[in-house]
Amino acid sequence: MAGKRAGRSVLGKMHRHFLSIAPQYRDLRTTDLGPILYITKQLEGLGKVRAADIGCGSGRYGLKFIEHLGEKCHLFCVDANREMLRHLRDDFIESCITNFTAIHADSHRIPLQTDSLDCIISFNAIHHFSLADFMREASRVLKPNGKLFLYTRLKDQNERTIWGRHFPCFSEKEKRLYQLDELKSAFASDPNLNINTVKFFEHHRVYPLERLMEQARKHHYSTFQFYKKHEFRDALHRFVQNLLAHYSDLDRISWKDQNTLLVAENIQN
Ligand SMILES: C[S@@+](CC[C@H](N)C(=O)[O-])C[C@H]1O[C@@H](n2cnc3c(N)ncnc32)[C@H](O)[C@@H]1O
Repeated sequence: MAGKRAGRSVLGKMHRHFLSIAPQYRDLRTTDLGPILYITKQLEGLGKVRAADIGCGSGRYGLKFIEHLGEKCHLFCVDANREMLRHLRDDFIESCITNFTAIHADSHRIPLQTDSLDCIISFNAIHHFSLADFMREASRVLKPNGKLFLYTRLKDQNERTIWGRHFPCFSEKEKRLYQLDELKSAFASDPNLNINTVKFFEHHRVYPLERLMEQARKHHYSTFQFYKKHEFRDALHRFVQNLLAHYSDLDRISWKDQNTLLVAENIQN
């Protein structure tokens, strides 16, 4: 019971976090083109693409997906947060994109027809879902042989980011991310979804200290929500000290981010 209550309070905290960050989310995060190029290449052979982006947020990846596939695709943008979807709609309309439908829904109950999608994409979101429930829903809405593309930071990849290495307690506070083995065994126990590719991406980043401080202060990663106010203030101070000790040019702090793209296929008939 206490576990359930704690789970609900984290969900509530995350919901409030995404409500407040929605207007700035796209600008605060770095959007990687590599996975979009890879995914859209995999879909090249299809005449039309009916796709859903689950946990789409304010749509930074969905926008790139549609830009690359053009008119042949229709994207259902699904998120549990209305503010994120409001910003997504505004941005898509501003970019003259109309081949999308924004849907306010939970990843565990996707209001789309069974066997109706060629693919599902999901970026930086699976650690917010109940994985088993999401996989069950994904295999229901995917057509037979439909593809699921999951882009995420694994737990050990998170530890190697600039935040994991230099921001005190960042990795310890972030308990939601998966290890690759955990994802593989979740898929192994699903009767319908088979992993057929695991692809690793590496992104070379160079940012000035000021930008990193702005990202942290505005909580660009929801992990920062797990710090108490005074803890966060002290940790930010120590983060700056750690960077001063490691980098001589604070206008060009460089590191490599790593991410994983998991591609699964719906093998049900
Ligand atoms: C870290 S953000 C990523 C957003 C977007 N995919 C991106 O990379 O910019 C996670 C998103 O998942 C959404 N989310 C969290 N739990 C969800 C759930 N159970 N069902 C649907 N969306 C959810 C949040 O509202 C948030 O917009």
